[in-house]
Amino acid sequence: MTNTTAEFIIDGKSYTLPIIEGSEGDRGIDINGLLQQTGCITLDPGFKNTGSCTSSITYLDGNKGILRYRGYAIEDLAEKCQFVEVAYLLLHGKLPNESELEHFRGLLERFALLHEDMLHFFDHFPPNASPMSILSVMVNALHNYYPEMSDDPLENIDITAARLISKIRTIAAFSYKKSVGHPLVYPRNDLSYCGNFLNMMFDKPVRPYTVRPEVVAALNKLLILHADHEQNCSTATVRMVGSAGVNLYASISAGINALWGPLHGGANEAVLDMLETIYADDCNFEKYITKAKDRDDPFRLSGFGHRVYRTFDPRGTIIKTACHEILEVLEVSDPLLDLAQKLEEIALNDEYFISRNLYPNVDFYSGIIYRAIGIPSNMFTVMFALGRLPGWISQWKEMREDTTTKIGRPRQVYIGEPARDFVSLDQRS
Ligand code: SDX
Repeated sequence: MTNTTAEFIIDGKSYTLPIIEGSEGDRGIDINGLLQQTGCITLDPGFKNTGSCTSSITYLDGNKGILRYRGYAIEDLAEKCQFVEVAYLLLHGKLPNESELEHFRGLLERFALLHEDMLHFFDHFPPNASPMSILSVMVNALHNYYPEMSDDPLENIDITAARLISKIRTIAAFSYKKSVGHPLVYPRNDLSYCGNFLNMMFDKPVRPYTVRPEVVAALNKLLILHADHEQNCSTATVRMVGSAGVNLYASISAGINALWGPLHGGANEAVLDMLETIYADDCNFEKYITKAKDRDDPFRLSGFGHRVYRTFDPRGTIIKTACHEILEVLEVSDPLLDLAQKLEEIALNDEYFISRNLYPNVDFYSGIIYRAIGIPSNMFTVMFALGRLPGWISQWKEMREDTTTKIGRPRQVYIGEPARDFVSLDQRS
């Protein structure tokens, strides 16, 4: 890290703060000493200008549309890896060799089942319960079945990570089966991570499901593309909750709740709702583009825009290509794909979107693939969580291993009432 500094003046007094530089040239003013030196804090709602940590896990350049996990380009990982390999990479900082990968796969097989007592939970959710709500509850409840996490959380983090990555897949599939009133399909150790999930989702006693390699490949790619994305809202939530010393299950459950939001991971489901609304409205693109541009209208183009990317989200570009590939293989023609492309074309030629650097993000096309596979839209954000889980765990582990970590506790600038005398009830007007 370089030794350049930031010089500034407050009330005529000059101050100097160090600037640290990351391995890819990104720089941050280290304000650790700001309050003590100046009596001032910074104010940055939404943290647009504020870094919460240093990290070695994911690097992204929003101007160039670059995304790398542990230094590897997302394009390479999405094309050449299995999701399980990428999960290992994020957790351990290196791609696994044959024996490491086999060992990790063995842990995922070992932990695929849920404790049978946990199945009763599913009987008490209402039929239309949100799968994200179920996921958050069940992940939180896992702590009660595997309490060893609360001893030395880092001692068995590899076991706990594999347990979570395996069981979240079973919980997701079981919640779907319960929602459609079908018998649960248990995990099978002869299937891959993604193949097992698909089989648990779609196999039925009356008609066995055929796990197609092309569908497994598409799901692998989607989970890899969602696996981490530096300090996004849900990851920052996992770090924040974990910084209080709470166990990994509770921290991940909090991250699932943050991801649920339509401004974040919930956008993939919101995109499908938006496309279906526009489709049902005679594809009246202009009407919805106008609504999206109207500050007084809460409607936004879901799947468009990003806090960091000021160009195409590289994940969205890969997913758009994968969309065409999987729909061709499955011989599915989805009018919503054509509609999405038309919407993208109109928006990318509209000054409002151009001037604000609004491009399709990871959520714009992903739902089209999930839909083609047969996954219902209320499960789209659950799919995002399945992909993001290794990233959340890796970030939590990095935070807990960092000896400088302190409990997250932001400050504020108070703008309320000045001190005033108490007024008893009988004196209040
Ligand atoms: C994810 O952070 C991550 O890395 C997240 C994520 C990950 O992998 O973890 O990448 C996953 O969450 C992707 C984003 C999914 N969300 C959506 O698709 C929802 C739609 N997008 C927007 O709500 C918005 O773009 C955000 C929330 C994604 C980003 O919002 P910012 O950074 O707070 O920017 P902003 O709301 O201040 O917007 C700046 C301007 C505003 O207009 P003006 O005030 O300048 O006139 O752009 C406009 C906004 O109104 N704008 C949009 C828009 N997004 C921003 N206008 C219309 N449609 C949109 N989608």
